[in-house]
Amino acid sequence: MCDILRRMTATNTERIFNFSAGPCTLPLEVLQQVSDELPNYQGAGASLIEMSHRSKQVVSVFEQATQGVRDVLGVPDDMHILFLGGGATFQFGMIPMNLLAPGSDGGKSADYIHSGAWSKKAIADANAVGKANVIYDGKDSNYTTLPDAASIKTSDDAVYLHVCSNETIGGVQFDTYPDVPCPIVADMSSEIMSRPIDFSKFGLIYAGAQKNIGPAGVALVLIKKDLVDQCPGNLINYLNYANHVKGESMLNTPPVFQVYMIKLVMDWLKAKGGIDWAQQQAVNRSEILYNAIERSGGFYKCPVDAKYRSKMNVVFTTPSEDLDAGFVKEAEALGMSGLKGHRSVGGCRASIYNAMPIEGAEALASFMDDFAAKNG
Ligand SMILES: Cc1ncc(COP(=O)(O)O)c(C=O)c1O
Repeated sequence: MCDILRRMTATNTERIFNFSAGPCTLPLEVLQQVSDELPNYQGAGASLIEMSHRSKQVVSVFEQATQGVRDVLGVPDDMHILFLGGGATFQFGMIPMNLLAPGSDGGKSADYIHSGAWSKKAIADANAVGKANVIYDGKDSNYTTLPDAASIKTSDDAVYLHVCSNETIGGVQFDTYPDVPCPIVADMSSEIMSRPIDFSKFGLIYAGAQKNIGPAGVALVLIKKDLVDQCPGNLINYLNYANHVKGESMLNTPPVFQVYMIKLVMDWLKAKGGIDWAQQQAVNRSEILYNAIERSGGFYKCPVDAKYRSKMNVVFTTPSEDLDAGFVKEAEALGMSGLKGHRSVGGCRASIYNAMPIEGAEALASFMDDFAAKNG
């Protein structure tokens, strides 16, 4: 067992280093607070998830979660903040239904960048609703690189440009975003809260919560007010952003537990130092792992173009599939779990979100060195 894991055992936290892509590791302080206050929330004699969502406690948690997101990310006043059930997948369809469908803006088209598995799903849903132009497809590189921001030109009639800012499976991440005449719509599921956002470029940002902000099942949606005004009136109730804005994310019985945890994660992030802290941590953690790949003399290979390597999901292979499997198994035995690559691509993947301590990346890098020395 490596030193760092021994120390973890000695402190009796009994926590593994969880490198899963999502659901994933969450801050221990937050989990402990939930555990302490869940049965009897602030002396109410009941937990939050047993109370009416119209109670003053739950309404206050929603207000604080919203304010927490606004403060941490610096979300401007011209953007609404919503917490919506259905995760990020639901947004793949809800976005074109509101912004692209006939009636929203004359049935125009939207531009999409196909950068990997998640953008592919978003494109499929957009095409089920209207016309999605794929203006870049990374197929020739097997989705290991991205277009240079300056080279991205949108179609004349595009109502928005959709990007997946960080492809969780392929491990590619945009470094900057293009200047285009239409608003950018971004799936930031696997990177939100890990670096600052220039909101002037975006009309809508969405993220499934289960990586950097809380438990699965809810999506954080940030949407510019002028886009909400364009949502077609003929959509069914739950599908219309305007109704969720009016209902302040409580159009129906909302996912209270998820939003409560998001509030706690925002408090935790603020106490740590906010987005600047998160960004520096992400740089440090990812450098530790990419350096381990580089110094292995070719034992580990990362297929991703160096310019677009993700700071959240580090993908790599060993010299063979058998060694990939051995790597994952041995790491698991040492208390480092979730390192198997996605079933569609194989290999290995280390997901290193905000709650992953630097010590986790160091422990993994040290194991990578040992494994390469033993099997190289
Ligand atoms: C980039 C990205 N987009 C969308 C999703 C889908 O999220 P959900 O499971 O919340 O629908 C995921 C899943 O983890 C993801 O990584």
